[in-house]
Amino acid sequence: MERFFNTAGPNIAEDNYTLDPLSRFDLDEILTLIRQKRYFVLHAPRQTGKTSCLLALRDYLNERDDYIAVYANVEDGQAARNNVGAVVAGTVNVIATEMDDIVGEDIPRAAKAGVQDENESTMLSAFLTKLSKALPKPLVLFIDEIDSLVGDSLVSVLRQLRAGYADRPAHFPQSIVLCGVRDVRDYRIHTTSGEIITGGSAFNIKAKSLRLGDFSLDEIRALYGQHTAETGQRFDEGCFPFVWQATEGQPWLVNALGNEVTNEMRENRDRSVVITPEMMYRAQERIIYRRDTHIDQILEKMKEPAMQRVMNMAVSKDFDIALANDITSDDIIEANENGLITLQRGQRLRVANSIYNTLFKELASNHERITI
Ligand SMILES: Nc1ncnc2c1ncn2[C@@H]1O[C@H](COP(=O)(O)OP(=O)(O)OP(=O)(O)O)[C@@H](O)[C@H]1O
Ligand SMILES: [Mg+2]
Repeated sequence: MERFFNTAGPNIAEDNYTLDPLSRFDLDEILTLIRQKRYFVLHAPRQTGKTSCLLALRDYLNERDDYIAVYANVEDGQAARNNVGAVVAGTVNVIATEMDDIVGEDIPRAAKAGVQDENESTMLSAFLTKLSKALPKPLVLFIDEIDSLVGDSLVSVLRQLRAGYADRPAHFPQSIVLCGVRDVRDYRIHTTSGEIITGGSAFNIKAKSLRLGDFSLDEIRALYGQHTAETGQRFDEGCFPFVWQATEGQPWLVNALGNEVTNEMRENRDRSVVITPEMMYRAQERIIYRRDTHIDQILEKMKEPAMQRVMNMAVSKDFDIALANDITSDDIIEANENGLITLQRGQRLRVANSIYNTLFKELASNHERITI
């Protein structure tokens, strides 16, 4: 079957046009951090390719001899919210299930059985201790969607992930990578006791935060080039500056435009049709109109009052110091970590790409007035 541009979930290289996930970050740096037994954060906005990268890294490590790597997505904890017991037990379950595929059922099952009587505040750390002891090699643990956890549950998970740090790698994971949209340091966690603590203080062993970047123009060309190589369908040269401006390399947007123009616009399934910038423009309009999950998530984020203030500043032609005074640096960091705005040294902040710019203008015109 022809491969296609992926617009839903992690990339699968056999099915989707794919840029090598391991070349999207500094693999040497990550391997060094793991070798040095560091705990660190990998973060990026929604649909940037975080999960695709973690899965590729897991497979890369498991194909080699040094470690056993496991990927666990704790997204389900979102439903349990502040039920700490359910979130902690859920996290143990996810890790155990993922381990089954890598080392068989016996070790994870025994580790899990050994912690059934543990209190919710120690169950996860006890499980990781038992697991690490039983495994023949040091464990590397990837926790994805860490910021889907909130409040007391998040605090408990973070504290338990650092609890055995001093005993690694024989009795605790060699390395733990937390992955989400925001840098853990920047969370403000509201506990039920009314305390506000920062993610940094709950996970104060973090050695580093790495941010996964967007595609470069060359990478966009390479990705679209895979379609041309496999189907013979060409893109007019003018398409590339257009795609760049529309997306500035945001991975989902790049794929969504590619999919729209080569697949959803049915007349273009005839591979002798050369894709033109005008077709690209129509593809963009259709994507904006359709409100796929990515667009919806971006719009929801933009609707938050603090994010609106930052966006207003980014779209205003004249830098308005009154606006600036109303915006905290936390708001700007949050807008940037969510991919809404671009921050470059020495430049004023601006909206990340022209599609988001259009979305924000539409949002603004739907409101009488955006509260500043
Ligand atoms: N290696 C890649 N090559 C090409 N496109 C990619 C690659 N990785 C990710 N993408 C694009 O990014 C989208 C999201 O990928 P993935 O689910 O890995 O990202 P994510 O950051 O984990 O997303 P989410 O925030 O939803 O968890 C894919 O659907 C695809 O469009
Ligand atoms: Mg993901």
